[in-house]
Order: sequence, then structure tokens, then C-alpha cells
Amino acid sequence: MELGTVALTGAAGTIGSVVRRALRREAGRMVLLDRVPLRAEADNEVVHTVDLGDAAAVESALAGADRVLHLAGVPDEAPLADLLDANVLGTHHVLEAARRLGIGRVVLAGSNRVTGFYPAGHLTGPREPVRPDGLYGVSKVAVEALGRLYADKFGLSVVCLRIGSFEPVPTEPRHLATWLSPRDAVGYVRAALTAAPTTRFAAVYAVSANTRRFWELPDPAVLGYTPVDDAEAYAADVPGADRPADPDAPQAGVYASPGFTLPYLQR
Ligand SMILES: NC(=O)c1ccc[n+]([C@@H]2O[C@H](COP(=O)([O-])OP(=O)(O)OC[C@H]3O[C@@H](n4cnc5c(N)ncnc54)[C@H](O)[C@@H]3O)[C@@H](O)[C@H]2O)c1
Repeated sequence: MELGTVALTGAAGTIGSVVRRALRREAGRMVLLDRVPLRAEADNEVVHTVDLGDAAAVESALAGADRVLHLAGVPDEAPLADLLDANVLGTHHVLEAARRLGIGRVVLAGSNRVTGFYPAGHLTGPREPVRPDGLYGVSKVAVEALGRLYADKFGLSVVCLRIGSFEPVPTEPRHLATWLSPRDAVGYVRAALTAAPTTRFAAVYAVSANTRRFWELPDPAVLGYTPVDDAEAYAADVPGADRPADPDAPQAGVYASPGFTLPYLQR
């Protein structure tokens, strides 16, 4: 499917750089946003240095886009005020620009960390109540809620990808369940950008086809992508991979521990 003009926020980031290179061959035009200055690498790329906090600049950069992939934000635990600014208000500005400009599809970067407190022995699906594992997870719950609000109230078409552990290869035992390979990440993003226009709102886990995964793969009726990679292929190189996982331990692993969040609560 022709992707038309795709706007990508967070284009300088880890996932943004990979997706940018993959999609620019399929898009008529790529509009790249980040607060870090970018350089156009192809004739069909346009770059904008924009902070998500500047709603007018976000809207002006998104003008003319057919689809938006919103990846920019703080990707891990941080003081709540920073997460609310970058992730929640930032997403609000992107959705508000999309509403005002009539953009056909918004894909949001959600996170598996919205359900990190479910036990590892439980296959978790997107219909279950959220159980965020930290302040970052809370901010991503709000990102999803904003997407749902804009879909229900203003008729936007929003797909929220609950991204797993995006890594070149799995390197730790938890990754054997949570890995999202670069190839599968591009597959999920492409499917989310091109899902049927009748899709009003969907939240799905974006995870590779890992033998040990504890999240449901998307219902094909909702999102037409079947992941191809399996972290198990790398298990022999992952220290500790042969130790049995505790089925009662939180899926988030160390991210669920108090010690992971406490440093961000101290004034
Ligand atoms: N990497 C993962 O495994 C993973 C897992 C789950 C969810 N996610 C989500 O996917 C998205 C991308 O993650 P990533 O790993 O590429 O992160 P990253 O930190 O590498 O990239 C994020 C980009 O957003 C930009 N950015 C941050 N705040 C901004 C602001 N206020 N205005 C403009 N630009 C801003 C940064 O400059 C950076 O280039 C994030 O929303 C993250 O929360 C990532």
C-alpha cells in the first residue's frame, strides 16, 4: 500500500532511525521531527527541529501528512513531571494537530510497561486492566487514554503499539519473552500505519514471535502483521537463559522493583 506522506516524531531516536530508513522507500514523503537536529538523507525527506512542547510548531510540521507515527518521548523511568511533559502533553499536541489537520491515521508508541505487574506466568492481552510498573508506565497509560479519547470523541483513527524490548538481539533472560526485533518493529509499524481506515482505536502488543512471550499477539482482524523472529534462536548466547523463570514474578522484572522508581521520587 502507498504510504503517502508519513510524519515521524522522534526520528533521531533508536526506533525512529530504523523505521525511518525502512519506510522512506515506501513513502511518497517522510516528514521527520525531533528536538535533536536532523539532516535529510533522501530526496523525499523533510526535517523539522521541533520540541513537542511547542503545539504550534508541531501542528505546522505535521501539515500535509497523511499518517503520523509518534515515537518521540522519554523512553524510561524519570520524574513524573518530565514524563507528563514529554509523553502526555507531547502526545496531546500531536493528537490535537492531527484532529485540526484531519490526518487519517495516528500510530502511538505505547509500551508493554502499562501491564508490567502481571505475573510472568500469565499470557496478558490488551483487554485486561492496566497495571503499570512505574511512572513511565503511568505516562504510557495516559498516552493510550488520549488516543482512545481522540478516537471516541473526535473520530480519529488511532493505533497504539505496546512496544516490547526493541533490541538488535536479545541479551538478557527477560528479552527471551519481550524482544521486538527491528524487522518485526518495522512490520508492526507498517501494519499500524496501513490498517483499515475503519479501525477507530486499537491497542496491541508489538512483540516478536518469542517462544517464551507472555503477551498476546495482535488479533489478525485488528492488525494484519504476524511477527517472524523468535528470541529463542539466540537463547544459547543469553547468560541465564537456562534458569527457569519464576511464573509469579512481575513481567517487568527489575523495572517493577521499588528501587527502580524511588530515585525519581526524591526531591
Ligand atoms: N526502545 C524500546 O524498547 C521501547 C519499548 C517500549 C516503548 N518504547 C517507546 O518508543 C518510543 C521510541 O523509543 P526509543 O527507544 O527510540 O527512544 P529514544 O530515546 O531513542 O528516542 C526518542 C526520541 O524522541 C526525541 N524526543 C524526546 N523528547 C522530545 C520532545 N519533547 N520533543 C521532541 N522530540 C523529543 C528524542 O530526541 C529522541 O530522538 C518512545 O516513545 C518509547 O517510550 C520504546
